[in-house]
Amino acid sequence: MSHAAASPGFPASPAPLRTAAVAARATDLSKVYGQGDTRVVALDSVSVDFGKAQFTAIMGPSGSGKSTLMHCMAGLDTISGGSARIGDTELSSLNDRQLTRLRRDKIGFIFQAFNLLPTLTALENITLPMDIAARKPEKAWLDAVIETVGLSGRLSHRPAQLSGGQQQRVAVARALAAQPEIIFADEPTGNLDSRSGAEVLGFLRESVRAMNQTVVMVTHDPVAAGYADRVVFLADGRIVEELHEPTADSVLDRMRLFDSKGRTS
Ligand SMILES: Nc1ncnc2c1ncn2[C@@H]1O[C@H](COP(=O)(O)OP(=O)(O)OP(=O)(O)O)[C@@H](O)[C@H]1O
Ligand SMILES: [Mg+2]
Repeated sequence: MSHAAASPGFPASPAPLRTAAVAARATDLSKVYGQGDTRVVALDSVSVDFGKAQFTAIMGPSGSGKSTLMHCMAGLDTISGGSARIGDTELSSLNDRQLTRLRRDKIGFIFQAFNLLPTLTALENITLPMDIAARKPEKAWLDAVIETVGLSGRLSHRPAQLSGGQQQRVAVARALAAQPEIIFADEPTGNLDSRSGAEVLGFLRESVRAMNQTVVMVTHDPVAAGYADRVVFLADGRIVEELHEPTADSVLDRMRLFDSKGRTS
């Protein structure tokens, strides 16, 4: 099933490169919060690869470690054991300054709360990471991203003057504009109505197909997961299941199976 018609800004034919290269890899990754009575094992020896030009969805019950996995992989949180790698770079080998630079140059983030700066216009928000890095946005690419997310007429608006869906599209454009090695999105459509959500998902899907962007997205929504190439299910900080070429129905079936297992055990 094709989820998105070719968007105006993107090339019509798929980009040729589809290698088995790995964009990010967790190996026996563990994360423990607190100690004694408050000790929580949020990630328990998780090993997973995120392939280049692949769209991966992460699903699982509340508290299963989805956000923790994203934060550890993105270098936003320290790890307790194992390893987290972006490309060939082992995150724990980096000092703070190197980590900041890696996040800035290689990683895009999209969070549920849009995290836009209220005093900047939509365009300034989109180019902010590149401005901070003193990198010139590639004009043609920037134009394509803006046109495809449908923000051409809203570039000088501030976030408060935009709808929720438009704000999230600014956040998506900001992540894509810098062409990062990998985009981590934590429930990027959680705050959106279904139409705006579908637009954002179609756009992420299209960036993977046409531009070989790598995307890892946390979601609770089987329909959203159906846009991905693959779904990884977490429970209690462990990977319990994986689905390839998912559809909303196959994801829903799998979720029901977990539910019934949970109730009978
Ligand atoms: N900063 C923290 N300090 C202590 N415990 C934490 C912290 N962050 C997360 N946890 C705990 O780690 C576990 C995993 O949390 P995480 O936020 O990764 O879950 P999640 O799968 O993203 O859940 P949700 O679907 O509700 O967003 C939870 O038990 C949570 O309480
Ligand atoms: Mg979470």
